Amino acid sequence: MRKSVETAEPFSSEPVLIGDSPASQLLRSTIAQVAGGDAKILITGESGVGKDVAARCLHARSARRQRPYVAVNCAAITDGLLESELFGHVRGSFTGAYRDKIGKLQMAHTGTIFLDEVGEMTLRMQALLLRFMENGEIQPVGSDHASRHVEVRVIAATNRDLTDLIAAGQFREDLLYRLKVVHLHIPPLRERREDIRPLLQHTIQRIRRPIVFSEAALQALEAYAWPGNVRELQNVVEQMASMSTGTLIDLEHLPATIRRSKSVAAPSRERRRQIADELYDGLLSGRYSFWNHIHPLFLNRDITRHDLRQLVGRGLTSTSGNYRAVLKLFGMDNGSYKRFMNFLGAHDCAVDFRPFRSGQPVQPEIQLKSVLHRVETFSARRA
Ligand SMILES: Nc1ncnc2c1ncn2[C@@H]1O[C@H](COP(=O)(O)OP(=O)(O)OP(=O)(O)O)[C@@H](O)[C@H]1O
Ligand SMILES: [Mg+2]
Repeated sequence: MRKSVETAEPFSSEPVLIGDSPASQLLRSTIAQVAGGDAKILITGESGVGKDVAARCLHARSARRQRPYVAVNCAAITDGLLESELFGHVRGSFTGAYRDKIGKLQMAHTGTIFLDEVGEMTLRMQALLLRFMENGEIQPVGSDHASRHVEVRVIAATNRDLTDLIAAGQFREDLLYRLKVVHLHIPPLRERREDIRPLLQHTIQRIRRPIVFSEAALQALEAYAWPGNVRELQNVVEQMASMSTGTLIDLEHLPATIRRSKSVAAPSRERRRQIADELYDGLLSGRYSFWNHIHPLFLNRDITRHDLRQLVGRGLTSTSGNYRAVLKLFGMDNGSYKRFMNFLGAHDCAVDFRPFRSGQPVQPEIQLKSVLHRVETFSARRA
């Protein structure tokens, strides 16, 4: 299990987010936009995509950069210990509590606290965290009163779908809204393959080994699905560098699983367009049913939010922005309207119909732009 990290010092090296893909560029510009404020930020994405790096970037580019940055891995310790870890404890409050101990929230005073894997918190801890976020007061374990007021910026991260956890009664909706004033989602590496070459280069430079990948090896690395994302990519490079006797890494030197990912994947934008087209054609021809095919594909994560938004966007284009007509187009009856809209809303996939009504061209990044718009509105409200 990874441990909690804490530092009262500025970072020894500036955290950097490498990547040329539109998603990485957007991530960097959003970070630049929101880092300066105090808004609470929720970072989501699969394991190894760079949530930790993004949190560090936010702190390093904020006015708090000279103040403490304290990270707590909420999944690494049990419920009781997490309470003491966050809020501290008083002497004698439990076996082994020989002296008073201040908690991580207090250590982060005037700085940033990074609550990693926040989706793993128990409902009891979520209630304590919510109370803290509402009043900023610390009540150490074993104390019957709040000891002091703490001012911290909260950044949280999770690789879980909190909407699903809320639906399953395992996560508090009110806490989600507190944590997610700004939402940064980092897509998996397989959806931003343009980042693979720069990340390989960056890792080679970091480990200071003079290795070079052949074009065939690079193409296989680009075609591979990277279930462990950037962390897995770094491990592969380090493994290759330590095992290779020469400097050139060719196809035959790669791990078998990567070598087998034969065909070079289409660029992500193209791949997504193909998926949306395939789903759209399937719905229109009656080969697919929305609830029997698309819905389970999405819940099983075989298609992404982006794919679903693209599909809805295609429907809205054909119907000039009429959701009821989209329902009909996709083979659903009128009675499904509420279920369809609730489903899209719950998963952040509801596409704004207005631009489709006015006949303006719709950008593929429409949803990302609306995130930026929300961030701007938020910043303007604060100013
Ligand atoms: N865009 C990036 N540029 C440079 N390094 C990156 C980038 N994204 C991730 N990394 C590196 O990949 C590794 C994994 O990243 P990180 O720990 O931030 O992932 P994570 O999303 O927090 O994963 P987990 O959910 O498992 O905690 C780290 O060594 C990090 O430095
Ligand atoms: Mg992490």
